Amino acid sequence: MSGSSAATGMELFLDSANIEEIKRWMDEGLVDGVTTNPSIMYADGVYDVERGAARIAEVVHPRPVAVEVTADEGGEMLRQARTLARLAENIVVKIPVINQFGEPCLRVAGALEQEGIRVNVTACLAFGQAAMAAKAGATYVSIFSGRISDEGHDAQAVVRATAEWLARWGYKSRIIVGSIRRAYDIQEAALAGAHIITVPPRLLGKLLDHRYTRDTVRVFVEDGRKALAKMEEARVRT
Ligand code: E4P
Repeated sequence: MSGSSAATGMELFLDSANIEEIKRWMDEGLVDGVTTNPSIMYADGVYDVERGAARIAEVVHPRPVAVEVTADEGGEMLRQARTLARLAENIVVKIPVINQFGEPCLRVAGALEQEGIRVNVTACLAFGQAAMAAKAGATYVSIFSGRISDEGHDAQAVVRATAEWLARWGYKSRIIVGSIRRAYDIQEAALAGAHIITVPPRLLGKLLDHRYTRDTVRVFVEDGRKALAKMEEARVRT
């Protein structure tokens, strides 16, 4: 099996709930894990979140799958997180760094990690949020590159500062750069020191394709065929 969760170097996750796309890119050996959020699940037609999460977890096992809680209150987040984590051992629970009222959710993240449930603290848009998530013990810290750029800030600088700070103090948290909007965002995140980048399937296709590569390969195939024809001609003459 290639692309296992024990991959060395930078890991690549698929930001998708589409099973066909997940299988397609796993077959290419590129998928080290999967991330979802409620909007991705909804857009990909996965309305029964628990059932959908369990199915993705089965397909990608032993790689991790991140599934997000949908609550604002800490007790309800804990309840949902425990339910999700029970679905499969490779499910990681996403807890937002703050709720929609600006209240910190790191107590929830810390409690879940203490229980042995892996947490992805999500929706981080600034260094301070990512650093505090690491202090709370999160296994993963998700930095939303596209949304940082939406607000006119430098996503690469946030990723770089966080990666350097985590390494300097030896935090266990791993940065997942998400909210990837363009193929070029992948290069920027990789060079800024992302441990993991989570990419929508359509952008993985774009990252790999190149018009001139297609032309180059076409000429090689044509010349290879011409050479075979010459050999055949020579064989017939002798
Ligand atoms: C991944 O973990 C995030 O949920 C996702 O990449 C967010 O992307 P968006 O900003 O395009 O919604």
